[in-house]
Amino acid sequence: MHLPVLYAETLEYLITDHQGSYVDCTLGGGGHFRGIIQRTGSEALLIGIDQDPAAIQRVQEQLGEELRARFIKGNFRDLESILIRNEIAGVNGILIDLGVSSFHLDEEERGFSYHKEALLDMRMDPENGNSAWEIVNKWSVKDLQRIIHTYGEERFAGKIARGIAKARSDAPIQTTLDLVEIIRQSVPAAYRRETHPARRTFQALRIEVNQELEALKEVLPQAVRLLKPGGRLCVISFHSLEDRIVKEFFIHEAKECLCPAKQPICTCDHVAGLKILTKKPVVPSPEEVADNSRARSAKLRVAEKKMC
Ligand SMILES: C[S@@+](CC[C@H](N)C(=O)[O-])C[C@H]1O[C@@H](n2cnc3c(N)ncnc32)[C@H](O)[C@@H]1O
Repeated sequence: MHLPVLYAETLEYLITDHQGSYVDCTLGGGGHFRGIIQRTGSEALLIGIDQDPAAIQRVQEQLGEELRARFIKGNFRDLESILIRNEIAGVNGILIDLGVSSFHLDEEERGFSYHKEALLDMRMDPENGNSAWEIVNKWSVKDLQRIIHTYGEERFAGKIARGIAKARSDAPIQTTLDLVEIIRQSVPAAYRRETHPARRTFQALRIEVNQELEALKEVLPQAVRLLKPGGRLCVISFHSLEDRIVKEFFIHEAKECLCPAKQPICTCDHVAGLKILTKKPVVPSPEEVADNSRARSAKLRVAEKKMC
């Protein structure tokens, strides 16, 4: 079961035309998608995308016959070409709910959870890309340290990277729990009592394996081009690295001019494409966090495509 995060708030912002067209770029368990179905009329067109074929299959089976919906297995970094292939020119709303779904964490064989024994995989799209095994067993200490530090914001990144290199010099590191044990042994005892010592390293590996930040940077400008005037882009992020990308993109796109402040005349020709609707991100209520701990760090940012 995957509980959709900031459900009512997201749908309230996203849907501006009951007969419009909407893209859910991260179908997951279909929670937000079901809400879009319920809140739109018979002429609406609803597109659900996910890079994980299991998510597509599960939601399709649960929904049964829904003539307004189209399901597409794909990466949202290819959003523009996906919509062109499906002969969809402009849409009224785009939703991006980042990260993994509860299904990923529950399906132990996917290797996302540091509590469950599995091969080191962590690919959301099991048909593409390098698995976590490749990174853990083949990358240099320097590169391991870099991603654990940057994507995991892990202060013991160096110790962990060196611990991994030492362990794999005997034999390849095969499973999630083998890696957890190596991390446990690499960090100080006080840190082990403070937090789960593998949490940040697993986050870093997952972000790198799935190229999560690159995909986010690539989809945002495409989303702006695809929205109809007045259409809305809703992005739910779960950590500061993602949120910063969304926030800075929105600010950049909402500016009428990008020239230096001291320059007397504008020469940049930049035209604002977005109007920011959430000056501060929308965060979950204490009640939502109590019901769904995954919502704890969620932030929703919404922007509207400017009228021409
Ligand atoms: C947090 S879940 C979405 C949950 C969904 N909103 C719901 O209410 O059930 C994120 C989903 O997005 C998918 N995903 C993540 N990055 C993606 C990408 N770049 N392209 C396509 N799907 C992606 C994951 O496979 C996962 O199923």
